[in-house]
Amino acid sequence: MSANLVIEARGIIKDRIGGLMRKKTRILNELELKVQEGEVYGLLGPNGAGKTTTLKILLGLLKPDQGEISILGKEVGNLQGLAQIGFLPENPYFYSHLTGSEFLDFIAQLFSIKKQERIKRKAELLKLVKLETYKDEPMHKYSKGMLQRLGIAQSLINDPALIFWDEPMSGLDPIGRKDVREILRDLKSKGKTVLLCSHLLPDINDLCDRVGILFAGKLIAEEEVKNISKDGSYIGLEEFFLTKITEAQSHGTT
Ligand SMILES: Nc1ncnc2c1ncn2[C@@H]1O[C@H](COP(=O)(O)OP(=O)(O)OP(=O)(O)O)[C@@H](O)[C@H]1O
Ligand SMILES: [Mg+2]
Repeated sequence: MSANLVIEARGIIKDRIGGLMRKKTRILNELELKVQEGEVYGLLGPNGAGKTTTLKILLGLLKPDQGEISILGKEVGNLQGLAQIGFLPENPYFYSHLTGSEFLDFIAQLFSIKKQERIKRKAELLKLVKLETYKDEPMHKYSKGMLQRLGIAQSLINDPALIFWDEPMSGLDPIGRKDVREILRDLKSKGKTVLLCSHLLPDINDLCDRVGILFAGKLIAEEEVKNISKDGSYIGLEEFFLTKITEAQSHGTT
């Protein structure tokens, strides 16, 4: 692994077998992905392109059929590595009878964080995601956006060096989105590495250093955000995205 590569995935292939005919579908097709320490990387792509599958593989939740992966210089699923990772899933599932505060405490215990530190982290994070008022309410009373905020808080409970966020803006109102943008900027200023999946291109444009476009399980384009409009080829990220997808479709990559 190069000195400052936090994510290095090479030749990742993932097949799924499904349906009555037990047909094999290639979900990830020789995916290559490299993310540097301190980078905020936006993984983009149409629905079904393989973004969530990629995150699950990088986290060790799914096993690739082929390929090599190094995360924080360690093998995928290494416990020391996992202790330094934060994850916000696409559809967070919570134990809805718990209060927000109890849930954060539970997650902190999974990371073996000691009681005093747990109390401190919990208070900081509830403040950060503006859930202090609701912290003692059971989560089944939370709105979608409140659950999403709690999901963001739990992803940061262990002060992770590497953060995976799958659709962090999902369900958030414009104030929530602004808050998440601020949280992300703060994480970046602290030198954290973030891999983010989102369909919200303006947010990606504002927040990410680099983007990769996934299409049919392949990374079809990668660029530093600051270079996208530099030479006048593209008006902005949306045009870059749509052009790359159209090109890939016309090349019959599917
Ligand atoms: N558990 C599963 N079993 C079989 N196929 C699956 C499973 N999960 C995902 N897939 C398939 O894998 C492909 C990639 O799905 P994935 O969820 O990774 O896409 P995505 O890029 O995250 O999409 P979205 O933008 O909608 O979140 C899709 O064709 C999907 O149908
Ligand atoms: Mg997804």
